[in-house]
Amino acid sequence: MTLAELEIAQAASLKEIASASDASAVESLRVKYIGRNGSIPAVIKAMKDVPKEERPAFGKAVQLWKAQVESALQAKGGSQSAEKTVEADLTLPGRWWGLGAKHPLSRVIEDSAAIFAKLGFTVADGPEIENRFNNFTALNTPAHHPSMDRSDTFWFGEDSLLRTQTSPVQIRAMMSNKPPVRVICPGRTYRRDTTDATHSANFHQIEGLYVDETATKPVSLADLKSVLAYFAREMMGECVTVRFRPHFFPFTEPSVEVDFTCHVCKGKGCNVCKQSGWIEVAGAGMVDPRVFKHVGYDSEKYSGYAFGFGVERIAMIKYGIPDIRWLYENDLRFLSQLG
Ligand code: PHE
Repeated sequence: MTLAELEIAQAASLKEIASASDASAVESLRVKYIGRNGSIPAVIKAMKDVPKEERPAFGKAVQLWKAQVESALQAKGGSQSAEKTVEADLTLPGRWWGLGAKHPLSRVIEDSAAIFAKLGFTVADGPEIENRFNNFTALNTPAHHPSMDRSDTFWFGEDSLLRTQTSPVQIRAMMSNKPPVRVICPGRTYRRDTTDATHSANFHQIEGLYVDETATKPVSLADLKSVLAYFAREMMGECVTVRFRPHFFPFTEPSVEVDFTCHVCKGKGCNVCKQSGWIEVAGAGMVDPRVFKHVGYDSEKYSGYAFGFGVERIAMIKYGIPDIRWLYENDLRFLSQLG
């Protein structure tokens, strides 16, 4: 082959590669030009027949041709040379895009459902848009109660509102079932709270309700306490203790607020628990007879307890999340730490 012939072959090969339309065409051109029996190795082998004085220039031209063919093949997505393909380590792991993680609120809700399932509670559901009766009246909340105010509750007209608590699901569960009733209801709730590090206008609660026949299975405050203590240990770990403080809710009597010992300082007092050693996580109490009356249960025959947990509260203390807004911001710097 002369230098002129080489230049013609070179131009033809590059044109051919440029017009290759798919990976198999690229691969057959790779074999054709730089494969073991390809034309470029053949030209290199035949260099000994090139006149001595032309050999340096010819050698340079062949090397240039080979380099151009390789980079043209590579630009087309082909491998650079036959040797490189063989060298590829097929045992290397594939590209790993990483698994997503469950959101802390979903985790708390799912873990709670699993814990209460062991105690015989099923999961009930209710709508986020409620009526006045289910959210307030049947829960023995008088018309003048501040929670009914327009500045505290999102109302749509006179009778519809965004539920301010999951307690209306108690009413729905009792109206559609005869005792025994043993349900929890996780869900979204809304209040006209100004959003700050610990408050959000929408948040989640887990309601619980157990009602049974007083004559055969009287439900007591002691039952409530043991169930919540069991839940606390399962959720937060063995060393957590539960405290009941007297409180008032219109729909329970007596009513309590429920605190867990602070998981950070184990009750000694720290910044997280504002030096008290305790963190408030729930409201609870014995179902008020007036609530039973509203749902058509005979309060002489039945007794029960109810409780309502703050899901964000539990997630924040369990996972050490200092700002409630992080839970809703979809910021990957936060979310990617949860795997
Ligand atoms: N619904 C109450 C709240 O949002 C909590 C609660 C539930 C209290 C059930 C007693 C019984 O604060």
